[in-house]
Amino acid sequence: MVSLKPAQRVLRLAASGTMEARGKANELKQAGAGIIDLSAGEPDFDTPARVKWAGRRAIAQNFTRYTEAGGIPELKEAIIAKYRREYGVSFGKEEILVTAGAKGALFSLALAIFDEGDEVLLPAPYWVTYPELIKLAGAKPLILPTREEDGFQLKADTVKERLTPKAKAIIINSPCNPTGALIEPKELASIIKLARAGGFYVICDESYEKIVYEKSPSSAARFEEENLVIVNSLSKSYAMTGWRVGFTLGPAELIKTLTVIQSHSITNPCSISQRAALEALGGAQGIVSRMVAEYRRRRDFAVEALNKIQGVRCHLPKGTFYAFPNVSKLFNGDSAALAEYLLRKAQVAVVPGPAFGYEGYIRISFATSMESLREGLRRIEQALR
Ligand SMILES: Cc1ncc(COP(=O)(O)O)c(C=O)c1O
Repeated sequence: MVSLKPAQRVLRLAASGTMEARGKANELKQAGAGIIDLSAGEPDFDTPARVKWAGRRAIAQNFTRYTEAGGIPELKEAIIAKYRREYGVSFGKEEILVTAGAKGALFSLALAIFDEGDEVLLPAPYWVTYPELIKLAGAKPLILPTREEDGFQLKADTVKERLTPKAKAIIINSPCNPTGALIEPKELASIIKLARAGGFYVICDESYEKIVYEKSPSSAARFEEENLVIVNSLSKSYAMTGWRVGFTLGPAELIKTLTVIQSHSITNPCSISQRAALEALGGAQGIVSRMVAEYRRRRDFAVEALNKIQGVRCHLPKGTFYAFPNVSKLFNGDSAALAEYLLRKAQVAVVPGPAFGYEGYIRISFATSMESLREGLRRIEQALR
């Protein structure tokens, strides 16, 4: 019998903790259980009607062939117009790559930047995919813990303390999945300066750019630095997760390399989705603020309800549609055991903290109807009473 072995690099990979939680919930759902799923990482809203129409129109017009590898010029123009309008920054087309979602953008970036033995600084709690992406490219994640007392905000001093000459990049996710934290512009400016001196990239994942509550959206694009790379996505802001459109903004030389990588992997982002994305970015933006207003209503409700549960303490997330309550007083701080208990006893799915590199917390998504959220939190409270 032949022995067929996978590549060494895949042996380093861990399954996604969020997908696992979702899988368990779906299994129970299929078995007939009345599960309330608070583990979802995607908007519960439908893609806006005019965006869907743009997709239909693209099909009717036979816009169904290969496109430019780096994205259609009209969409790049719309991205340029967005950053000029919202942040007063001018990008050239050669500084933009349209991708298959933020994941597509990050995957090409990892291949283009990370070498075997490099270190990639990663603030924790982090989004589940970052460490796996870093390891897949042969590099090593260097974890930078943030603290609940600081609202999980990354400080430049933490970066300075942990920095080694092997650092190739830092990944900053603001607003952050799972904590909802936003990086302070002052801290970001200092980190960019440190990175410039140390000769490493600052990769800013701004996938949740529009989903913020206290301040208006902001972007690292304002800094206009050569070592800065911005990743963004239409998945969350426009409820377009299935369409798979995102983009990378960065120095022209790097974008050229990323375009070559993309041309040899996915060829180009889906032609139909690119037309839909053009409509999303170019059209009226009222729909985004309506979704954010509803997320805010749910956030306020969820955080208040969580803080009323004994043994639970929840800070107020400043962005995203996640709450990240501290549950370290329950189940001896074993959040996986707590999540398992909530799934079996309360039939509510949540994601345990270790999926995000942080024990003693769980992630609760409020990208679900107010009715489900209310019922889910009622059941959690009852199960923990
Ligand atoms: C922080 C963060 N970045 C990127 C992504 C991936 O988004 P996309 O659908 O654009 O690939 C997600 C999705 O959950 C996310 O939470």
